[in-house]
Amino acid sequence: LSKEHQDVLSAYEWLTKLYHHLLRFTKDGKEGYSYFKERGISEETIDAFQLGFASNTKDFTAEFLQKKGFHQQVLIKSGLLTLHEDNSVSDRFRGRVIFPIRNHLGKTIAFGGRTITEQEPKYLNSSESKLFQKNKILYNFDLAKKHIRKSSEAVLFEGYMDVISAYQAGVKNVIATLGTALTENQAKLLRRYVDTIVLCYDSDKAGIEATYKAANILRKVGCQVKIARMDEGMDPDEYIEAYGGDAFQNKVIKASGTYMSFYMRYLKKDYNLNLEGDRIEYVENVLKELAMIDSSVEREYYLKELSNEYNLSMDTLTEEIHKYRQNMG
Ligand code: UTP
Ligand code: MN
Ligand code: MN
Ligand code: MN
Ligand code: MN
Repeated sequence: LSKEHQDVLSAYEWLTKLYHHLLRFTKDGKEGYSYFKERGISEETIDAFQLGFASNTKDFTAEFLQKKGFHQQVLIKSGLLTLHEDNSVSDRFRGRVIFPIRNHLGKTIAFGGRTITEQEPKYLNSSESKLFQKNKILYNFDLAKKHIRKSSEAVLFEGYMDVISAYQAGVKNVIATLGTALTENQAKLLRRYVDTIVLCYDSDKAGIEATYKAANILRKVGCQVKIARMDEGMDPDEYIEAYGGDAFQNKVIKASGTYMSFYMRYLKKDYNLNLEGDRIEYVENVLKELAMIDSSVEREYYLKELSNEYNLSMDTLTEEIHKYRQNMG
């Protein structure tokens, strides 16, 4: 590690402690503390994730770090300060609750900061640098790793709060991307530790699209993918708040379904299944995907489902899928 990288890590270490201290013990951080309390986050969890609060006082962070002897150049590179067009700098995080983003060794390499007053953006991250590349990091991987190994499964979420709520509720093999789509890099990293990924994204339109994309990236690198389902519109954190951790474990994670059953639902969005022509096209497209499944038991299982739902004979469906399989070579 270069001297500059070491300085950046050191700045993050100081600030993680400072922001956490502010939140836990000072009047200045009271609104951050209350925010997490209202969201049902316990002190133990606040400590485990080193959650913090960045003061709203102007230049609070810059002054603290400069007093510690950090050079401004380092701080700009770290993504902690924002450089303006007139070359002035200001604190990037002000009046936000802070989620330290840790690397696989547990060292903070960036912050996510959430507004507590409905400001835009809702979440602000440290700007990217050599040290912090969003497409290479998975939130909470350091704490989740041993639980992932133990359960032979990793649960992948969209958000920091989903991870924290699930972890607090006892579901600890949990990680998230950092507000971006899952990349092949991240998928390969996961694949080194585990076969099976349970995708548990927000149950809204964006979440469902992201699920489709992430599932295919994971399949491409050789992961088994399972897809969790929650009530329409909910995210995992909201589910846990509404129904509790046991329900989340048993009715969402353990009850997650196969990629194929997700795909059969997902594909329906492109068709008006009241129309004959659309129904036929839909079935054809499902068959194409089904043809790629190697297990004949699994294929037959979904063929039966199609057969029942669309009133087509198993013979016809089997004959058709056979054609697709032959074309695959
Ligand atoms: P969501 O909008 O689903 O937020 O974004 P959330 O995690 O449910 O947050 P709460 O419950 O309102 O606090 C999912 C993730 O996308 C990233 C963050 O990483 C967030 O956790 N994100 C979201 C951003 O980076 N910027 C944003 O403005 C919003
Ligand atoms: Mn609690
Ligand atoms: Mn969302
Ligand atoms: Mn969400
Ligand atoms: Mn949420």
